[in-house]
Amino acid sequence: MPQKPAEHTDRSAVRSLLRLWPYVRPVRVRLFTAAFVAILASCLSLVIPLILKWMVDGPVADRDPGGVWLGALYLLLLGIAEAVLFGFRRWLVARPLAGVEASMRADLYRHLQRLPVAFHDRWPSGQLLSRGTTDLMLLRMFLAFPLTFLVVNAATILVGFLILFAQDWSLGLVLLAPAVPLIILCSVFETKYSLVARKAQDQVGDLTTVVEESVLGIRIVKGFGRHRSQAKAFKALSQRLRSTELGKARLLAGIWALITTIPELAIGAALVLGTVQVADGSLSAGTLVAFLSTALALRWPVESIGFLLAMSQEAATATDRYFEVMDAAEEEDTAGAHVKAPEAPAGMVFEGVEFRYPDAEPGSPPVLARIDLHVRPGETMALVGGTGSGKTTLTALVPRLHEVTGGRIALDGEDIATMERSRLRELVSVAFEEPTLFSATVGENVLMGAEGADEDQVRRALAVAQADFVDRLPQGLDTEVGEQGLSLSGGQRQRLALARAVVGRPRFLVLDDPLSALDVHTETLVEAALRQVLEETTAVVVAHRPSTVMLADRVALLSEGRITAVGTHQELLRSNAEYAWLMSGAEPGGGPDPLTTGTPAAAQQVPVEEGTR
Ligand SMILES: Nc1ncnc2c1ncn2[C@@H]1O[C@H](COP(=O)(O)OP(=O)(O)OP(=O)(O)O)[C@@H](O)[C@H]1O
Ligand SMILES: [Mg+2]
Repeated sequence: MPQKPAEHTDRSAVRSLLRLWPYVRPVRVRLFTAAFVAILASCLSLVIPLILKWMVDGPVADRDPGGVWLGALYLLLLGIAEAVLFGFRRWLVARPLAGVEASMRADLYRHLQRLPVAFHDRWPSGQLLSRGTTDLMLLRMFLAFPLTFLVVNAATILVGFLILFAQDWSLGLVLLAPAVPLIILCSVFETKYSLVARKAQDQVGDLTTVVEESVLGIRIVKGFGRHRSQAKAFKALSQRLRSTELGKARLLAGIWALITTIPELAIGAALVLGTVQVADGSLSAGTLVAFLSTALALRWPVESIGFLLAMSQEAATATDRYFEVMDAAEEEDTAGAHVKAPEAPAGMVFEGVEFRYPDAEPGSPPVLARIDLHVRPGETMALVGGTGSGKTTLTALVPRLHEVTGGRIALDGEDIATMERSRLRELVSVAFEEPTLFSATVGENVLMGAEGADEDQVRRALAVAQADFVDRLPQGLDTEVGEQGLSLSGGQRQRLALARAVVGRPRFLVLDDPLSALDVHTETLVEAALRQVLEETTAVVVAHRPSTVMLADRVALLSEGRITAVGTHQELLRSNAEYAWLMSGAEPGGGPDPLTTGTPAAAQQVPVEEGTR
């Protein structure tokens, strides 16, 4: 799995965060200005002890009330200036950073659309979802707050120590002493925290996957009364996340305690030492007051470093997680390479096609092997085979949802591997076993099949698919179909998917068992209409029933990833036992074709289909 934390032990948070630069670049001026304003505001607060010193050694010692009032006024003005500057900083960064987050999210979405199907087979959707939401939010927060304040605090601490040393260098050294152990502690903390942070973010992804699956599968969950076990799985995951979060909190509390206690001890030591010096007369009371109030003013910048580092670590992890997806290679277009391929005849040609899924066990047999098939121009080829024989896989190779791992597929003489994907997908239309619809209107769902088709074409496609039920929907074509089209019946969804496949009058059509959910009467109607469409195209139709096979001119039998026979329905029924068995098994009780009832003897000769093993 690509998202295991163990691989990330030796990564550098800074290097990860630097990858954000291209997105931050457009807003860099504002970000730098904001940091500058924050440094200014923070250093203003360091002037306050100097005014105190002036007051204690001057007006207070001289018992001059006018001077004290003046000092108080200065302090008030400084306070107001500091508040205004911090407010200005916030205003400077808020809007541009929302823009950074939005553009990163848009890039992620665009990239997800272009990643190959194999990537999506491998990655759980919740992991992708959490990257697009939680992780990007962490990044925005990091850019808005810890990034600036790590710089601001470092600058403030530096200026503060310069002031401290100017007041009294021996006391300054006492305060500086804890720096070394603190730096060591912080680096240990950072390493530990980055591991837990990664774990927590991955677990959020797992949790999202479970929630998403059980919401999408709510019918099954309820239908099988599985809500208890689902809830249990959810509870287990969320408890795991909770204990990781607690681990994070424990680490943070530990470093926080050390970061507050150690400087506190140093301030205490400086106080004792300073008081002795004042008693000796070697230090003025005002200087001691100024020294201690500067030290106290530095407390917050030092203390906050713990959680600023924690937030930065989380942001670095989020960046890693984001770029893990962004670095995955998109489907590349080899178009333009124009490798001279050996001539292939017109129509749809499979030549020695071999395919193996990317995550298949090494050494396992390929899902498809030595597929040689020629679908002549205008011809319809039915693809028949037992379950798991590789029919869906073969159809997915034509629009290049997966890339062949051997051999080639050519459309009208052109190797699809050298074709631009956009052109290939205009040429080929598909309808899959599970008709996927989107939460949009009926019309929009059909139009996905051909951009720019007009309403007449949509109506024609709906007529072909016998989807006249659309007219009876409350808003006709403009009816929203709900998430994944679940407000429609299975047969209705299938007919819309079919309409989507034929709306663009594609040259090549690939249908994966498109009629399985229709009742016998609708099926007959759809078949009649589909026959007209198929006449104009070169098509491969996966079929389980004799009635669908009847749409085809010829039939290819796929058996355990090989084409074992090609011929007309009648020929194969007579000559091929497996085919006869499949056709009779698919239609218990006999189909419309009297020839389809295979002989019992034939049935016994045929090996059990591999999908049932
Ligand atoms: N995404 C995938 N990753 C790995 N293996 C897969 C994937 N999809 C399918 N397979 C495997 O490939 C083989 C062929 O599957 P395929 O879906 O092509 O069968 P099919 O002929 O369409 O079956 P059915 O008639 O049940 O639809 C099966 O053994 C299946 O387990
Ligand atoms: Mg299938």
